Amino acid sequence: MSQQPSAAPAPATVTVARRRDWWRDAVIYQVYPRSFADSNGDGMGDLEGVRSRLPYLRDLGVDAVWLSPFYASPQADAGYDVADYRAVDPMFGNLLDADALIRDAHALGLRIIVDLVPNHSSDQHEWFKRALAEGPGSPSRDRYHFRPGKGENGELPPNDWESIFGGPAWTRVADGEWYLHLFAPEQPDFNWEHPAVGDEFRSILRFWLDMGVDGFRIDVAHGLVKAEGLPDLGGADQLKLLGNDVMPFFDQDGVHDVYRQWRHVLDEYAENELGPEGPSAEGRWWATGGRIFVAEAWTPTVERTANYVRPDELHQAFNFQYLSTDWDAKELRAVIDRTLEAMRPVGAPATWVLSNHDVTRHATRFANPPGLGTQIRTAGDRELGLRRARAATLLMLALPGSAYVYQGEELGLPDVVDLPDEVRQDPAYFRGAGQDGFRDGCRVPIPWTREGSSYGFGSGGSWLPQPASWGELSIEAQTGVAGSTLELYRGALRVRREQADLGAGDAVEWLRAPEGVLAFRRGEFVCVTNTSGESVTTPAYGRVLLASGELTEADGEAKLPADTTVWWTTA
Ligand code: NOJ
Repeated sequence: MSQQPSAAPAPATVTVARRRDWWRDAVIYQVYPRSFADSNGDGMGDLEGVRSRLPYLRDLGVDAVWLSPFYASPQADAGYDVADYRAVDPMFGNLLDADALIRDAHALGLRIIVDLVPNHSSDQHEWFKRALAEGPGSPSRDRYHFRPGKGENGELPPNDWESIFGGPAWTRVADGEWYLHLFAPEQPDFNWEHPAVGDEFRSILRFWLDMGVDGFRIDVAHGLVKAEGLPDLGGADQLKLLGNDVMPFFDQDGVHDVYRQWRHVLDEYAENELGPEGPSAEGRWWATGGRIFVAEAWTPTVERTANYVRPDELHQAFNFQYLSTDWDAKELRAVIDRTLEAMRPVGAPATWVLSNHDVTRHATRFANPPGLGTQIRTAGDRELGLRRARAATLLMLALPGSAYVYQGEELGLPDVVDLPDEVRQDPAYFRGAGQDGFRDGCRVPIPWTREGSSYGFGSGGSWLPQPASWGELSIEAQTGVAGSTLELYRGALRVRREQADLGAGDAVEWLRAPEGVLAFRRGEFVCVTNTSGESVTTPAYGRVLLASGELTEADGEAKLPADTTVWWTTA
């Protein structure tokens, strides 16, 4: 039988999918599986809990869900210590639950991004156990960084690096050798110079791509490759993730070779998979393909962050410079400009983020005086913090690019700053002798209902105690309540979808504004944010689409209360 020349319809489909590039303006919601929803009453969130609440996320209006690790793990660092990258930890469910979650999400028009942890494994990983058992000189040790110690009897660590969680970055094993761990001792760093490590991770990528995930968040993406010879640092301040120097263990140029290889794997899938564009079962736009990588890369500058999202590398990188910026118009404008300028030459979308599972929630960060960093121990002025957090969210969602929302921020949750020591689990807290590592405060399970066991999180309590005030912050308490933070997020995400000028893009047009105020235009859309502590008068730019606080308008002018953002349309 003669065949028609196979000039296949594929190119047309490719164009469609590329044009839509869903991730360029996606709002991605971070689920911290331990603390989202507990389906079996053991006090710990799980995958079935997440699956059962997907309709909530669909209704919230996000595009994708990023799940922090749920792999088999001894949980020395809440799952960022992976013992088996192809298995689900029983405390979260099993692979069938993961499969059901991915399928249900897709049916609802939501994409799923999983967390990949390639810098280190758990010390309970098969490879590490074998490396320990087989001893010095064995090939299995080469997959990690084992070294003899310094000093007469090798009693000193091989170099002066410190762990991010405090203490030396080296631990000595019974046979006298030391191994490197940038984080906890239970998290030995892989040696990415060893080809087996790269092979293994490309295979892990394929495993999860075959499971149907839409992307990967890459943990410690800047850490995989270490400077040759593991040189001493000297006197540098090592613990600062976001410093001004490139460390011999962070942001080495060699990491980019890894991501170029990974990109090939992803593109292979994309090319094989582009399917017809069409609405999902729920009526939302949906097309297969378009899987992405997002880098967790704490680099010294946004310019260096841009290196991770060059066209043949990753798609997005978290903007930690933005996350670390105080509530100050001048500083915000500077970081926004710098971000957009840095991303433009590489053609990647800017990203914006205010909170995640590693930092003090922004409602608490902004409740405190500026300059305290991202691990804050004081509640501060709650009312002020919430007002600013709401304004900050509207500002973030108006900027060009993609935005990340951390579970519970849509409820205006504060950090829990008074957790008793005996419930804390953050390894950094214990290694830092109680002076660091306050991450448990942003990881407390979220409240779904006003009353009931753990406010609807589950039927069996919660692994970290929730404050008594959380019933009133619950999803139930805020749903349908005009002016609630939850309805503000829903409204903002709805408007973002409706307004053609919001979302993707690489520029804003700044407008003249009083001291302490940010004002910019994007086509027919105008956003004004008042970070000053006082009310200000600005032009009323048109019809108010949304506001984080109550403003008054008269005679073509608008009076914006302190710490408020307004969205206008001039159409
Ligand atoms: C970054 C993760 O976000 C954090 O939670 C973890 O402790 C470290 N990487 C180590 O994996």
